[in-house]
Amino acid sequence: MGDVISYKDLGLVNSREIFRKAVDGGYAIPAYNFNNLEQLQAIVLACAETQSPVIIQVSKGARNYANETMLRYMATGAVQMAREMGSNIPIVLHLDHGDSFELCKNCIDSGFSSIMIDGSHLPYEENVALTRQVVEYAHARDVTVEGELGVLAGIEDDVVAEESTYTQPDEVEDFVKNTGVDSLAISIGTSHGAYKFKLGEGESVPPLRFDILKECEERIPGFPIVLHGASSVVPEYVALINQYGGKMDGAVGVPEDQLRQAAASAVCKINIDSDGRLAVTAKVREFLANDPGEFDPRKYLGAARQELISLIKHKNEAVLGSAGKA
Ligand code: G3H
Ligand code: 13P
Ligand code: ZN
Repeated sequence: MGDVISYKDLGLVNSREIFRKAVDGGYAIPAYNFNNLEQLQAIVLACAETQSPVIIQVSKGARNYANETMLRYMATGAVQMAREMGSNIPIVLHLDHGDSFELCKNCIDSGFSSIMIDGSHLPYEENVALTRQVVEYAHARDVTVEGELGVLAGIEDDVVAEESTYTQPDEVEDFVKNTGVDSLAISIGTSHGAYKFKLGEGESVPPLRFDILKECEERIPGFPIVLHGASSVVPEYVALINQYGGKMDGAVGVPEDQLRQAAASAVCKINIDSDGRLAVTAKVREFLANDPGEFDPRKYLGAARQELISLIKHKNEAVLGSAGKA
């Protein structure tokens, strides 16, 4: 067991104030996942240049891939990099989809400023009990906590199962009150990954369940709401991937106009991972197809990083509305 580290000593902030401003201002804070150097460089650079507050988030899988200590030092480096650019944007280091008290505690003790405890798959009372346990530990250290109610649809689920996993608005008030969470992820029709909807011939993406979002907002007015699975699955990237040897037929995401609508509501955090993965894959495939003799990773990862910067700037400026809000 190493030393306990407070995020405050690393120049990070928790999500409380940026969420309050985002709810009041009708925009959403971007939460971008990272696993490697180029992703984090792109996130920091794009957010510093657009003057956007940002949540850099780490999944359990990212911790296993990149090593938790390495990730924390990278996050510290990200803060320094932004400051050296002359940018004082708020940066939150967040655990994405924490699945146990021990994992959340470990992250809090090693410098995370925000935690998600995802008990959404548990029976309601167990979700409440686990979330409350994490909140008590986190709040004693001024770390903010995201909980979740309702399970995001999976591509393998049949229609009936998808219907039954939407957040039930009549549970949100009790959940927020009894857990003490600072924000709540809800399920209104998004799902993780690049295949969010199964569309038949000529069908278009169904609208998100804004009626459920509205009902939730009415029961917890002004309370910060989080949207997972919010990648657009940018069609240009899917086309490039398919053009250069990939196989991603049927990949489809949430149209940007629906995300704009969500960002203007009490949705104050929008999670984006898959779009970044697609940008990197598209650019690496394109680069290597056009220059098969290149073997310096800095060349093809540099091209991928450049595309990520453009993507993130676009999201901040034209979709989430977080640009200029730092
Ligand atoms: O919610 C899932 C995120 O996209 C992270 O994915 O668990 O493969 O790192 P991962
Ligand atoms: P996407 O797969 O749509 O990018 O969602 C990411 C996410 O919700 C991370 O928690
Ligand atoms: Zn998620």
